[in-house]
Amino acid sequence: MSTPTRTKRTTPAMIEAMKGKQPIVSLTAYTTPIARLIDAHCDLLLVGDSLGMVLYGMESTVGVTLEMMIAHGQGVMRGVKNACVIVDLPFGSYQESKEQAFRNAARILKETGCDGVKLEGGEEMAETVSFLTSRGIPVFGHVGLMPQQVNTTGGYRSLGRSDKEADKIRRDARAIDNAGAFAVVIEGTIEPLAREITAALSIPTIGIGASPACDGQILVSDDMLGLFNEFKPRFVKHFAELAPIVSKAAEDYAAEVRARTFPGMEHTFQPKR
Ligand code: KIV
Repeated sequence: MSTPTRTKRTTPAMIEAMKGKQPIVSLTAYTTPIARLIDAHCDLLLVGDSLGMVLYGMESTVGVTLEMMIAHGQGVMRGVKNACVIVDLPFGSYQESKEQAFRNAARILKETGCDGVKLEGGEEMAETVSFLTSRGIPVFGHVGLMPQQVNTTGGYRSLGRSDKEADKIRRDARAIDNAGAFAVVIEGTIEPLAREITAALSIPTIGIGASPACDGQILVSDDMLGLFNEFKPRFVKHFAELAPIVSKAAEDYAAEVRARTFPGMEHTFQPKR
């Protein structure tokens, strides 16, 4: 099905109202050119802190700063006409207190013009989510696998296999829903649990490594485009294979420069007669 044409930008309230009506299409975007290319096809674009790993080669998202998120948020906003744009609060910018979270979330909204912020966490972040949403900041939650907690959880593995783990994810998702988030990412969670949580919540769930039954799906755009090829988790599908195309273009360019066949005279400027 082709993407329907929109006349104005999608808001967080419109995303929330899509639950039970139509699947919510989301991708990450970090730059103006990619935002321009994918905007028309998406309901929501996330300026995810995954940019630390995808664009900057970091080993985790822990080193990503507020300044990086604001700079990339501004870039994405310059390329968007349709989608709702949400910017991640990076590690260390919101966990200390609800006041710290408000200050940094407000800065992101003011300096980028985006529509809301995403933060990771469940029960322990519910008070913060409620503080932000009751003061005018739309919040996108994130439960299940939380990459910012990699240093305490010890890695990237799918969660919810034990009763204890599943119960915690259930409570986290419910707490974020009750706190007033407009939607919640469920990441890296066993399929039946993600399905069950989707049915139980009043807000949309956006799955990544979760379930086809989630109210929407999100992928990292570089993964989906086949650009980030260092490893391919099970939940990623390449809808294009751009990595070999980029590499081949660079090889062809290098060969032409070395053979002095590029640039040709048609690529040069001549004096006017
Ligand atoms: O940072 C990110 O890109 C994310 C998505 C994978 C949900 O949090």
